[in-house]
Amino acid sequence: MTEQLLIKNASQIVTPLGKTARKGAAMKDVKIYENQSILIEDGKIKAIGQDPNWEKQVPAEKQLNAQGKAVLPGFVDSHTHLVFGGYRPDEFLWRMSGMSYMEIMERGGGILNTMKATRAASEEELVDHALDHLKKMLAMGVTTVEAKSGYGQDHDTEIRQMKAVRELNKRQPIELVSTFLGAHAVPPEFAGRGDDFLEFLIHDVMPEVAQDHLAEFCDVFCEEGVFSIEQSRHLLTEARKMGFKLKIHADEIVSLGGAELAGELHATSADHLLHASDAGIKAMAENGVVSTLLPTTAFCLKEPFARAREMIDAGCAVALATDFNPGSGFTFSVPLMIGLAVIYMGMSAEEAITALTLNGAAAVDRADRIGSLEAGKQADLVILQYPSYKFLPYHTGVNIVETVVKNGKVVHQNA
Ligand code: NIG
Ligand code: FE
Repeated sequence: MTEQLLIKNASQIVTPLGKTARKGAAMKDVKIYENQSILIEDGKIKAIGQDPNWEKQVPAEKQLNAQGKAVLPGFVDSHTHLVFGGYRPDEFLWRMSGMSYMEIMERGGGILNTMKATRAASEEELVDHALDHLKKMLAMGVTTVEAKSGYGQDHDTEIRQMKAVRELNKRQPIELVSTFLGAHAVPPEFAGRGDDFLEFLIHDVMPEVAQDHLAEFCDVFCEEGVFSIEQSRHLLTEARKMGFKLKIHADEIVSLGGAELAGELHATSADHLLHASDAGIKAMAENGVVSTLLPTTAFCLKEPFARAREMIDAGCAVALATDFNPGSGFTFSVPLMIGLAVIYMGMSAEEAITALTLNGAAAVDRADRIGSLEAGKQADLVILQYPSYKFLPYHTGVNIVETVVKNGKVVHQNA
């Protein structure tokens, strides 16, 4: 039997259109339907419109009244470090009193601190920990989350992190996309031998990850003092040969040329980009690389925001994501992210919506099936408490998501 859901009489249905990332000027073009309904069948959007027959066809208990409310595609958080052990609240406060992120890392804090706690955690502990976070993310309208490994930096812990992601995919409604980020820092066993560490990843870890389909993407922390451009190019080139799609932590702390490298390799996305150069921006725009910006990280590091306006004006497809992690930004707040993007980064509300939905979907290579509200796409959507999408930035920092639908099923309702 067909399973139906009818979202009826929405004050607004707001969505970007298409099956690929929207670039540059096209980011602001969102389709707005007024006082229309969405018919969902077997997890997919069947039609958007106003047909009096729908109310007769669909059982009453499968109808949601969205009068006075706006409906948007479910949010895609396309960059997170979801699975980790332990927390680092002290480091946050050290940063506030003037120590830099890299200074803390050089003193054995930072990623290596979380690495120790993650190595000590069982798969079950990692899963439990992440489940709690995912529940709160779902309540903010997030229906798809990318999750990176990278806090093990040894064979067993990296594999355990990715197995935790696989398990999490079965235990809760958000779809998780797994990324291998073994090259997140050089672990103590390989201190001063970054090249050897990369060879270890390439020969002793990644073939197994590929074989067991434990990750779809390979990412690298390409940064001064971490992995150089040459090292990142080598790792990502080998990753591609094994069938991974590519992402890169690019130009976060200094302008190293990560965005240019992403363009050269036609990576799916380049992320962070606080210090992306003009040439890097051009390289992303010309080579179909999604430019994933992470405003809450810049905010928590007290760094200047990425040049979103210039990127969009240069023709980039910008996505917004939270970078949720225990260090540089311990937050997955979608409302805060939208506020920062619109207030400080020169993005319009419409561009922010495209960035969080269709372009986020493109950043995890799923724009053909999620990220917009159109017939044939998966029915992942959020119903807001207010009649217009404009309340998203306007009701600054406040979660206004009322109902979350994933795959055509109501999976969350805020009181
Ligand atoms: O994306 N920059 C590298 N990785 C993370 C931070 C990880 C951490 O501090 O634990 C980031 O900001
Ligand atoms: Fe990150």
